[in-house]
Amino acid sequence: MSDLNVAMAETAQKIEQFLEHHLTAQQLSRPLPAPNRLVEAVRHGALNGGKRLRPVLVALTAKLFEAPQGNFIQAGAAIECVHCYSLVHDDLPDMDNDELRRGKPTVHIAFDPATAILAGDALLTHAFELLADANCHPDPALRNQLVIELVQGAGVGGMAGGQMRDIEGERQGYDPKTISLIHAMKTGALIRASVRIGALMGGANKNELDILTQFGEAAGRIYQLADDILDATQSSEQLGKTAGKDEAQGKSTLIASHGLDHAKSALRSELQSALSLLDPFGKRATPLAQLVTHFAERTS
Ligand code: IPE
Ligand code: IPE
Ligand code: MG
Ligand code: MG
Ligand code: MG
Repeated sequence: MSDLNVAMAETAQKIEQFLEHHLTAQQLSRPLPAPNRLVEAVRHGALNGGKRLRPVLVALTAKLFEAPQGNFIQAGAAIECVHCYSLVHDDLPDMDNDELRRGKPTVHIAFDPATAILAGDALLTHAFELLADANCHPDPALRNQLVIELVQGAGVGGMAGGQMRDIEGERQGYDPKTISLIHAMKTGALIRASVRIGALMGGANKNELDILTQFGEAAGRIYQLADDILDATQSSEQLGKTAGKDEAQGKSTLIASHGLDHAKSALRSELQSALSLLDPFGKRATPLAQLVTHFAERTS
């Protein structure tokens, strides 16, 4: 296995174990008893199957620095909870109306839409407990900053706002600049937050944080461009979710407006700019460079 594959497998396994332990009726029954059906729906939406690439990004960014502090698995798990919530809601009948996710029925199919909405709410809320918890980082002021990073990644100026623009785009074609803004918001904002949270736990100075923020933004655009290309080129079996969905749903993508070759070349040039942003970090940044290359070249 390559170094990147080892790092991805290790982090994914730790995240799985972390979530498996935290998303139980016992852990979630605070202050009052958690209803079993909601716990089961939360577990269905969060356990088994995700690539866990955002936590890998947190870990590899933190490890750029000599002495990162805090528990970056816990911070990565918080981001993963928000990501899983975004997928549960993204799949709802009134959103993308999808029946397959991570090779399994979506939460609203396995349960029902009301339960899926609540499972998303529960995952989103749980994320903030994980970041605010003292085990996440010894410095309360830094924990506070991590919370703000996640708010900005998930909120109206981030993922939720991007999802709104994505839905509005079904009724109107967007120009490439607006499509790129949707990518930056619906997917990029959480990826940007993953990088910034890793960098803050690493103790990045202002200049390092600025450069890594730009890197996170590029990585986010790359992630969604690749997702759109995979949607148009892979099978549902390969993706574990319904392929060809963007065209069926009339989504405003670069592929719909400018074709697949154009989208692929936009992806290559985004990757080149992301990689050159890592130059100032030298060899230390090789794992991050490999990870963002994987974001662009992944097959699922
Ligand atoms: C899918 O995300 C939705 C996007 C934001 C592009 P992932 O491709 O990371 O999905 P999982 O978590 O591995 O299932
Ligand atoms: C998802 O974009 C962005 C989210 C915030 C969940 P997509 O709608 O393209 O994600 P998939 O293809 O359903 O995973
Ligand atoms: Mg969507
Ligand atoms: Mg979708
Ligand atoms: Mg997609």
